[in-house]
Amino acid sequence: MKILAIETSCDDTCISIVEIKESKTKPSFKILSNIVQSQDIHNQYGGVFPMMAKREHIKNIGPVYKEAMRKAKHPKIDAIAVTVGPGLEPALWVGITFAEELSKELGIPTIPVNHMEGHIFSIFPNKTKSFVIDKKKKIFPLISLLVSGGHTEIVLVKDFQKYKIIGSTRDDAAGEAFDKVARMLGLPYPGGPEISRLAKTERECVASGSEVVFPRPMIHSKDYDFSFSGLKTAVLYYIRDHGLLTEKLKSKIAKEFENAVVDVLVHKTIKAIKSSKAKTLIVGGGVSANSHLQQTLKAKLKKVDESIKLHFPTKNLSTDNALMIAIAGYFQYKNKKVKSKSSKLKACGNLAL
Ligand code: KG4
Ligand code: ZN
Repeated sequence: MKILAIETSCDDTCISIVEIKESKTKPSFKILSNIVQSQDIHNQYGGVFPMMAKREHIKNIGPVYKEAMRKAKHPKIDAIAVTVGPGLEPALWVGITFAEELSKELGIPTIPVNHMEGHIFSIFPNKTKSFVIDKKKKIFPLISLLVSGGHTEIVLVKDFQKYKIIGSTRDDAAGEAFDKVARMLGLPYPGGPEISRLAKTERECVASGSEVVFPRPMIHSKDYDFSFSGLKTAVLYYIRDHGLLTEKLKSKIAKEFENAVVDVLVHKTIKAIKSSKAKTLIVGGGVSANSHLQQTLKAKLKKVDESIKLHFPTKNLSTDNALMIAIAGYFQYKNKKVKSKSSKLKACGNLAL
C-alpha cells in the first residue's frame, strides 16, 4: 500500500509518500519522496508566530504536494496520514484541511497521527531509501526521550502504540530554552544548532578565565519531570550582570547552558531506564541532533548496561518531517484507527500520546 503523509504542526510544511510491503511481523518501507519546506520567515523574530506559520503553510502546501508527487512518479495513493496534534492549531488545520480535501477527491481514508508518536518512529529509517521494522526484535520495554521545540517528555513504551508519559516539562521545552537563550545571545532562530556550534568551539579550548556556572533544575527531584525556565532566567541575570558580551563569553555561556540542559536530560533518562529495566532508548525531536547530548547519553548508557540499544534519528529526521508521520500512520492504519471518507478530523494543540 502507499501512504501520503502530511505534517504542518509547527513551522515546516512536509509531505512524504511511502510504499509499504505489508507483513504482520516485518513490514518493509520504501521512501518514494520526503519533502520538507522550512519557513525561514521566523528566523528574524526568534520564534514561531502561529498565524504567520499558518499563512506560510497555506502558501507552501500546494507546491510541496506537487513536488512530493512528482518525485514519487505520481503513484496511486491508498490512504492519507496527517498530524492532528500536538502543535500550533492554526498550523495543524492547514494540513488537516488539505488531507480532507484530497481524501474526498481520491475517495480514500485519512489516518490521524500524533506528532510525538511520529518522533518515536523517526529512528527506523536509515540513510537508504528502504528499511524494515522487525516486530519480532525484542526492543521493549523501551524508553523514549522526546526533546523538541514544543515538548520534553520521557515516555515508557511497553509495545508498539502502548505509551505512558512518565515525565514532562513543567514550563519551557528543552528546544524552547535553547531558542530563548540563543536570542539573549543575539543568535538567530532556531537557536539549538547555534548554541551547539558556540559550545563546541569552547569545548575545544583550554579553560581560561573565570568559569560560568548555571543551575541544573530539578536534577535531584524524585520524579522524571523537568523545568527549564529557571535556567533560562539564570542566563538572563548572568548576561545582565556581566556587561560586555564578548564572543568568548558567549561561547562560555553557550557551553555551560548546554551542559546544564544535557546533564538534567541524561540524569532523568538514565533513571527511567534503570527503573523500567528498558532494553532500548529512543531519542527523538529537534534537540536529539545535539552532539553533546548524543555523546553524553552514549557514554552514560554504556556504564549502565552495554546491551541497551541506543537510537537517534538521522539528522534530517530529527526535526519535523512527514516520513515519520507516514510510518506512525501505517501502524495506526493496521490498528484500524482510520477515519471514513465522511467523518471529520480535528486539530488538537495539546493532544497527548
Ligand atoms: O522537533 P522540532 O523540529 O520541532 C518541534 O516539534 O518543536 O524541534 C525544533 C527544536 C528547536 O527548538 C531547535 O532549536 C532545536 O530543536 N534543535 C536543537 C538542535 N537542532 C535543533 N537543539 C539543540 N541542539 C541542536 N543541535
Ligand atoms: Zn516535532
